[in-house]
Parts: sequence; structure tokens; C-alpha cells
Amino acid sequence: MRSTISFVLDGKKLELDFKNSKGISSTSTVLNYLRSLPTHKGVKEGCAEGDCGACTIVLGELDGNDKIKYKAVNSCLVFLPMLHGKQLITVENLKTSDGKLHPVQQAMVDEYGSQCGYCTPGIIMSMFALYKNYSKPTREQIDDALAGNLCRCTGYRPIVDAALKSCAYNCRDHFTENEPHIVGMFKSISKESIHIQTDQQKYLQPASLGEAISLKHRFPEALIICGATDAALRVTKDHELLKEIIDLSSVTELKEVKGTDTALIIGASVSMNDVRSYIEKFFPALFEMLNVFASSQIRNVATLGGNLGTASPVGDTIPVLMAYNAKVILESLNGRREITLDNYITGYRKTVRKPDELITSIIIPKVLNGAIVKSYKVSKRKDLDISKVQSLEELQREICYSNSTLKLERR
Ligand SMILES: Cc1cc2nc3c(=O)[nH]c(=O)nc-3n(C[C@H](O)[C@H](O)[C@H](O)COP(=O)(O)OP(=O)(O)OC[C@H]3O[C@@H](n4cnc5c(N)ncnc54)[C@H](O)[C@@H]3O)c2cc1C
Ligand code: FES
Ligand code: FES
Repeated sequence: MRSTISFVLDGKKLELDFKNSKGISSTSTVLNYLRSLPTHKGVKEGCAEGDCGACTIVLGELDGNDKIKYKAVNSCLVFLPMLHGKQLITVENLKTSDGKLHPVQQAMVDEYGSQCGYCTPGIIMSMFALYKNYSKPTREQIDDALAGNLCRCTGYRPIVDAALKSCAYNCRDHFTENEPHIVGMFKSISKESIHIQTDQQKYLQPASLGEAISLKHRFPEALIICGATDAALRVTKDHELLKEIIDLSSVTELKEVKGTDTALIIGASVSMNDVRSYIEKFFPALFEMLNVFASSQIRNVATLGGNLGTASPVGDTIPVLMAYNAKVILESLNGRREITLDNYITGYRKTVRKPDELITSIIIPKVLNGAIVKSYKVSKRKDLDISKVQSLEELQREICYSNSTLKLERR
């Protein structure tokens, strides 16, 4: 067990000791940590609630094949201990050591993709994640990658053009060259559990399911977090001091997805983007719903377990999972319970989960022949996006029919 965290920044392995570091706590966000460094001021705060994308960074983490997976996330909603064992990449890291801009940065310059520049580092980081994950992304993939970044002054056409131009060829860059070195650093970081205890807070990051269940038994009042996209708002918006936290983000057993002849079993900590990659064929209604679930930055960390954990009436997966007759698995030292979703939720943010129980997985039975499940979230036109690119003809059509769209034209 350790009380410090290790992660990679600027090509070096760093260790943070929360007892001896002034001004940071275990619920400090990565955004505030970066802003406190003299060398990483590119990252910006816009909303501090995951909506604007100005704080977007990229996290590199080891996948199963000794490769690094790059994910864009909102640094305003990531607690510092969640960096353990990962590579933190900011806009300052993109240029090469001899000062040459990264292809996504150069394309933004060439295409005039920035005006005031406030949103630009965040947009660059979303584009960088796109560059690393796709060669020749489709227009739909580009829109999806940028849907969580709000720009109030440039207009999206040149930004989309920059993405089309820079991501069209291949995804090699100086990060590719340096990957074996970073993978070596990842492997040198111990995977043991982390217990950070300070005067005011206890932050526990178990490394196994067994330990997580024991900790919840010992500390039944502790707040469980998986991706923290919901829980972090209690810190960033309500300025609440979270005294006891059990962070499940390092429990590998909760990140497993298993298929059987009759069902798909999804671990509570599987991210929404990963869930999406498993369900298109057998659970199209859930797939459709996840296509309009938040932004890519949120879906990279938000989990199915967390969505059910909120038991919120605005939780998007809950009605669809009910329609699929899904069951939630609750586990504690006293055993395991399998409960259908309609019996799991008892009221507004209320469930039958006992204080010492964890949600460990969700079972979605395959749909019987002939049965049809459909989902619907406002509209497929993606008018839930915080920003969108529209053709002039599309806009003119909407202006004809809607007063609210007329307001958009006046701005
Ligand atoms: C900008 C933004 C956009 C969003 N858009 C959407 C949207 O479109 N649709 C939607 O439904 N939601 C949305 N959300 C809400 C949130 O992202 C989801 O509810 C998400 O699924 C929560 O997952 P998480 O892992 O981040 O949960 P966390 O924040 O880690 O946890 C959420 C709650 O569940 C409990 N919990 C988590 N895991 C467990 C567990 N294993 N066992 C027991 N309890 C647990 C926690 O204690 C906490 O109370 C959005 C949030 C933000 C900030
Ligand atoms: S500051 Fe707006 S998404 Fe993080
Ligand atoms: S360039 Fe000003 S907000 Fe995007």
C-alpha cells in the first residue's frame, strides 16, 4: 500500500506526496494542479463542470498489448489520484523538442482555426486524441471528437478543416517514437493500492475487487467513485469537502466485459465509450443512446456503474436498460445480489443498495427473437450539442420554422 501517486509528465516520472505538497489535496482537480505549475498554463478553465472543453487534456494509458491508448478528458473533473500510472499530456507537450508544431497545431494555424484563442488548447487536445486514434477519420468522427469543445468566436468550419487536413494521413508523431520509453516508465510504477490519509480526507484507491469490497465494509459512509464525472461536481461546483472516498478506477475486475449465450455482462467501471464498442450489434437502442450521451471527453471516463449509481431521473441509460430487462449486481462481504433495474430504483436518487454494497456489474439479457427495443433522446439532429456546425441551407430551413433558431442567427 502506498500514500503517493506516480504519473508521467513532460517525459518524466513524477511522484506526488499529498502530505508534503502545499496547496493540493486528494480531491484537487488535474486542471487546478496544472494551472499551479509555471509551465502548463495552456489548459484553461471555462465552466469547471465538463461542458466547455477548454480544460481538455489527453491521458495516455497502457492497453493490453504494450501500446498506449490516448483519451481526451476534461481535466476539471479528474481528481489528482486518478492520474496514478498514466501519462498526462497537455498542449505544451505537443511540439517537438526543436520547436516544430505538431501536425494538428500546424493545421489549426494554416486553416485559421483560432481567434481569441481561449478554447484553442482544448480543441487542439481533442484533435490530438483524434489524430492518435484514427487515420482518415470520417466527418462524423470529427464532429464527435469536437462536440465537447465550445468555441464562441472562430466558427467551426476552419476547425473541422484543420482536423480533416491533419488527421488524414497517419497517426505517427514524436509520441509514437517515444512510446517504448513511456511504456517502460508505466511498467516501473507499482500497481499496489493507494491510501492517502490527511487531516481532512481519506482517499482510498483499491487495486482489487476484494479490497474494494472490504474497504466499503469498513467505511460504509465513503463515497464511491468510478469516473467521478458526477461526483467531482460536488467539489468543483458545490465546494464540498469529500471526507472519505473509495475510488474504483484501478480495479481491473470491474473493467471486464463478458459475453455469454444469453447476455452481456458489463463491469461497473467500463467507460461509456468502451461500452459503446461492445453493444452496437445486439443492443442498438443502448448504442443509439450512448451516441448522444455527453461528449467524448465525458464518455472516456463516465461509467455505466456510475450512471446507475446516481439513480438520477436524468440518467440516460436507466430507462433503456429497464426496457432491456437489465439486472444490476450488488456485492458486499455478505454476498452477491442480482436485482432487476425496476426493483433496484425505489425513488428520486434512491435505490435498494445497502451502504456496504458496491455495484460490480450490469447484466443485459439478449433480446428475444421478435422483440424490438427503441430509445429516443430529444432528436437525432444532435440539437443537444453545446456547439454544432450547420450548413447555411440547414440553418435557413430552421430559421423558417423556429423562433428559437432565429435567436441563433441574430448572435
Ligand atoms: C458535462 C456532463 C455531461 C453529462 N451528460 C450526461 C448525459 O448525456 N447522460 C447522462 O445520463 N449523464 C450525463 N452526465 C452525468 C454523468 O456523466 C453520468 O451519470 C455518468 O455515467 C456517471 O458515471 P461516473 O463513473 O463518472 O460516476 P461517478 O461520478 O464516479 O459516480 C456517480 C454516483 O454513482 C455512485 N457510484 C459510482 N460507481 C458506483 C459503484 N460501482 N457502486 C456503487 N455506487 C457507485 C457514486 O457514489 C456517485 O454517487 C454528464 C455529466 C457531465 C459532467
Ligand atoms: S472547464 Fe469547461 S469542461 Fe472543464
Ligand atoms: S477562438 Fe475564441 S472561443 Fe474559440
